[in-house]
Amino acid sequence: MAEGNTPLYHLQRCARTTGVENLFAKHQGMNPTASFKDTGMTVAASAARQEGFRWVACASTGNTSASMSAYAARGSLRSLVLIPEGKISWGKLSQALDYGSLTCQLRTDFDGCMRILNHLVRRKPIYLLNSVNPYRIEGQKTAAIELLEQLNWEAPDHIVVPGGNLGNSSAIGKALVEMLELKLISRLPKLSIIQAEGANPFYRCVHEFGGKKLEPMAAETLATAIRIGNPASWKKALRALRATGGQVEQVSEVEIAEAKAEIGADGVGCEPASAVTLAGLKKLISSGFVKPGETVILILTGHPLKDPDFTIKFHRGDLFGETPRESLGRQTKSLQRAPVVLDADLGAVVAALEAAERNS
Ligand code: F0G
Repeated sequence: MAEGNTPLYHLQRCARTTGVENLFAKHQGMNPTASFKDTGMTVAASAARQEGFRWVACASTGNTSASMSAYAARGSLRSLVLIPEGKISWGKLSQALDYGSLTCQLRTDFDGCMRILNHLVRRKPIYLLNSVNPYRIEGQKTAAIELLEQLNWEAPDHIVVPGGNLGNSSAIGKALVEMLELKLISRLPKLSIIQAEGANPFYRCVHEFGGKKLEPMAAETLATAIRIGNPASWKKALRALRATGGQVEQVSEVEIAEAKAEIGADGVGCEPASAVTLAGLKKLISSGFVKPGETVILILTGHPLKDPDFTIKFHRGDLFGETPRESLGRQTKSLQRAPVVLDADLGAVVAALEAAERNS
């Protein structure tokens, strides 16, 4: 379905606000099902078909299921989706339905869905399409290879990715190391991984346990794509982190929401989980790990229309529910652009325009 070859955008406004002039976004949300999953899914679904399976399945926070459903349909395979009830965005759920999957919303979280699926594939002839599938990882390497081609094989200083189940960071890290071995690049970019504070098992693994163990947790974040407490690929991601010399950071819910609005204000936009990259970058700049003169690539993993609910709530000022608005930063309020409801009257529109002009 013409996956891959996604655009690399210069983030002009974010470059100004962060002070990193060479700040770019590789937008994997511009794939056919609007997330980074497609490059791996096309390979793994093809493998399922080649091996003669009738059914494929995944547990998902939404994007894997959207992608799997589409590629299964294209390959005339039946597909089973296990998703946590009430905790995935409508955009993603609607895709699975539209592409014809059997969609089961389980009363548990992503980790609970994964547990059940692991038992199920042992009992039934179903091909597992989660990112533990090695073909998924091989396909997802494409993002890094394309990126280097877009940069004329000049390695950037930093690549920043969100961390959930940690398949993507593993894939990108593997691609970077392989490109160095093949002498396609002459040095490795540092690959840094960012998690939400409420879903930070990998951050804790690195900062509290020195990478020796990963303690599963009950995850909670409004960035539902990365609401994962027991990431399958943590050991592979740790290898990528160590091979490239990157860092792991965690960011708060407010920091995620602000970063998402800032990427939106650059005319690019992304889903909440992707915005952890910009929020994390700000921390990496503060700690001195990223320097203003360096080149930084944010991997934006999902399209803004995946989760418009989040965006609308943010701009209306009710994203954080009961949280008093005063306790949120001034920055958050200045980024909010609530819709203005007016009478169908020219004068009212002119007045709104003039008020906006005065406030800009
Ligand atoms: N960003 C988005 C938009 C995602 O959907 C995911 C993961 C991630 C980042 C994290 O990537 O898991 O490779 O570390 N989504 C999976 C799913 C888990 O089911 O759609 P990861």
